[in-house]
Amino acid sequence: MYTGFKHLHSGLAYLLLAGVVFALLYAIISKNKPFTSGSRKVALIGLVFAHIQFVAGLVLYFISPLGASNFSGEAMKERTARLFILEHPVMMLIAVACITVGYSRMKRLSSDKKKYNSIIIYYGLGLILMLSMIPWKIWP
Ligand code: HEM
Ligand code: HEM
Repeated sequence: MYTGFKHLHSGLAYLLLAGVVFALLYAIISKNKPFTSGSRKVALIGLVFAHIQFVAGLVLYFISPLGASNFSGEAMKERTARLFILEHPVMMLIAVACITVGYSRMKRLSSDKKKYNSIIIYYGLGLILMLSMIPWKIWP
């Protein structure tokens, strides 16, 4: 079960990063064009991968030896251990929240330009947070 979720979380990370980069580039390129239902679907792909990855990460947190079971004062002093028990989960939660806010704002806003801007700003912020908290030592 642990190995399965570890691979799922590791593999979904590629799809999520690709989905968010694609949505971001699409919004930047289309900025001055009308916002269509296709534009919304492109943003939806990034959102769905973000939500699935979050749920996978949450499960992994409770079954991985690097997750909740490793939580201790000693582990807090160690850089890599602290990344997995605290920094990675918390910052990824904020990153996924940014992407969700960007998508919901996009749905609510009325002007096409503002819709694209919502994706550019919030997906961009989410991407930066995700890139900063990926454990590059062990991934890809
Ligand atoms: C949503 C964006 C997220 C991304 C892009 C992401 C990405 C990654 C990547 C690339 C790894 C390394 C996987 C490997 O090759 O072993 C990893 C590991 C891990 N992630 Fe995430 N993660 C995300 C969210 C979360 C969340 C929300 C949690 C917990 C609540 C979490 C918990 C963990 C844990 C515990 C590990 C260590 C797994 C192990 O090796 O035992 N992740 N994450
Ligand atoms: C802890 C688990 C989850 C939480 C807290 C969560 C939260 C949310 C929130 C707050 C929204 C609203 C965005 C809006 O205003 O439109 C949303 C939308 C959405 N979520 Fe999640 N989600 C979770 C898991 C998932 C999973 C596992 C999936 C996919 C299998 C998913 C798919 C979607 C989709 C497709 C939408 C957009 C619906 C639309 O088009 O408006 N979510 N989610």
